[in-house]
Amino acid sequence: MEQYVIKGGTALSGEVEISGAKNAALGILAGAIMTDETVTIENLPNVKDINVLIGAIEDIGAAVERVDEHTVKINGKSINRLSVDYEYIKKIRASYYLMGALLGKYKSAEVALPGGCLIGSRPIDLHVKGLKALGANVDVSYGLWSARADRLVGNHIYLDKVSVGATINIMLAAALAEGKTTIENAAKEPHVVDVASFLNSMGANIRGAGTDVIRIVGVPKLHGTTYAVIPDQIEAGTYMCAAAATHGDVLIKNVIPKHLEATSAKLIEAGCIIEEYDDAVRVIGKGRKLSSTHITTLPYPGFPTDMQPEITAVLAISEGTSTVTESIFENRFKYVDELARMGANIKVEGTVAIVTGVEKYTGARVQAPDLRAGAALIIAGLSADGITVIDDIKYIQRGYEDIVGKFVKLGADMAEVDSEHDLQKFKLKVS
Ligand code: UD1
Repeated sequence: MEQYVIKGGTALSGEVEISGAKNAALGILAGAIMTDETVTIENLPNVKDINVLIGAIEDIGAAVERVDEHTVKINGKSINRLSVDYEYIKKIRASYYLMGALLGKYKSAEVALPGGCLIGSRPIDLHVKGLKALGANVDVSYGLWSARADRLVGNHIYLDKVSVGATINIMLAAALAEGKTTIENAAKEPHVVDVASFLNSMGANIRGAGTDVIRIVGVPKLHGTTYAVIPDQIEAGTYMCAAAATHGDVLIKNVIPKHLEATSAKLIEAGCIIEEYDDAVRVIGKGRKLSSTHITTLPYPGFPTDMQPEITAVLAISEGTSTVTESIFENRFKYVDELARMGANIKVEGTVAIVTGVEKYTGARVQAPDLRAGAALIIAGLSADGITVIDDIKYIQRGYEDIVGKFVKLGADMAEVDSEHDLQKFKLKVS
């Protein structure tokens, strides 16, 4: 069984290079099948979620050529199935972006329904509302979500709740609809903007991405392109929090500092120094006292829900009482019990975690409950006294490229082990 093992207590220092944004790449990969010409996507993160979606794209018949670890060429001309199996959806929900992409291109698609997930129930009502508004007949039954249309025609769509997934799915389908579509109360996340820029590079006409109102003028067809995915703001934020929690000094390279503003602001409030450069941020926790602050997760540009566990891991060792309010997903505090095993003092009341800072974590054997919660456990382990062993690292591997290699380069004592023998060997080495 694969595990991460960490001997904590080393202040991280040096430089780390951030990979491409997983969540942008998922939308972009789906969009790549919308033309019969070849699309080259660069700066893909080499993580499990991306490889699952590429598998789903191959499975519907598209030609996929992996040029290197971070580059793929996709040609959607040979697509011969308009149906995406549960096998992919259950591994990665965002395979449902193939709904918008296939419906836009072929006016017909069938995708297995995603269920709830580890962080909460994940409805698709807004996706359905959007696709219906474009003229599709959408049917949700027998564990499937299918949509068909003779023609897709642009429309005015108001999203009752800000949803990244619904915004991207509707944008994909509307790019090839007839006439104008307006998405109101659209998600403004950097990955929404990146998917829009990518589609525009294929000849789509999408304006306003990054604001509340996205305007799309449908085009009859899209063409091939070469496009590089933006850096991953959540991966970057994770290294920022790790630098803070270990009182380190880390230069985080290949980022767009603007995308990190919410995380930077909160780490400054907690006592860190943040220096911003054109495409890097430096987090200085060295010699700084960490103190409490208050966080509420919100859609972008608010504090990202995907950074909630990581920042909580920092606040749990910051002096004073912090509050962390989760306003996007209802079940995102499951990792708190694992942090408690490492000495944290956190009480959850409904959607609020009350975090009373303790002096330090103590290493323990813990279990990653989901992707970002797993990252929080790594942050705790890196700053803990003693050895932390993390089980269920498959969740972490879904979204972090070479996380062990990157932390080791920053000075961490960390390894991936897959046997008791390797675990003992690591313990001997660091003792
Ligand atoms: C995306 C991200 C995920 C992140 C989340 C919020 C990807 C692949 N995943 O997920 O990492 O945590 O944004 O930033 O990009 N909702 C509805 N009806 C819908 C759709 C959503 O009520 O049809 C609700 C959800 O339950 C949630 C909120 O809207 O409360 C936001 O969800 P959404 O932005 O859609 O999240 P995802 O796109 O699934």
